[in-house]
Amino acid sequence: MIANWDTKFETNISEIDSQHKKLFRLINQIESVYEENKDHLSKKSKLLVEAVSELEDYTLSHFLIEERVMELNQYPDLESHKKQHDRFTDKIMELKNRLTSGNLLTNDIELSQFFKDLIGFLRLWLTNHILKEDMNYKPYIKLDL
Ligand code: FEO
Repeated sequence: MIANWDTKFETNISEIDSQHKKLFRLINQIESVYEENKDHLSKKSKLLVEAVSELEDYTLSHFLIEERVMELNQYPDLESHKKQHDRFTDKIMELKNRLTSGNLLTNDIELSQFFKDLIGFLRLWLTNHILKEDMNYKPYIKLDL
């Protein structure tokens, strides 16, 4: 099921909101590639790896920018927020490694399970993180980028 942007995710920091919207789109893009090809995923391995890599790259750049905004505004829980980002970064890198090493990309059944788990994890992580962690800094932000 495609996840849609909702006003409850708004931080009212325009750059951050547009980055969060893009993260939703990138997760939905992974899901679309998965749904459209779920009977022959191994034939679309290049597309799958590209979609995961794009999400990984964009997430890392989002984290850097968001951390800069928190820093600029002297957000008191910056360090613990950064730790959440670091944990997610480690996890997505580990998942991407699992995808691209070994022979997962040639096994349709395992690939299908991997993507089902991945999409569920990404969606849950992003929505929880925005609603809990990102919303916490909202009242502290006076200076935008
Ligand atoms: Fe928008 Fe803390 O990630």
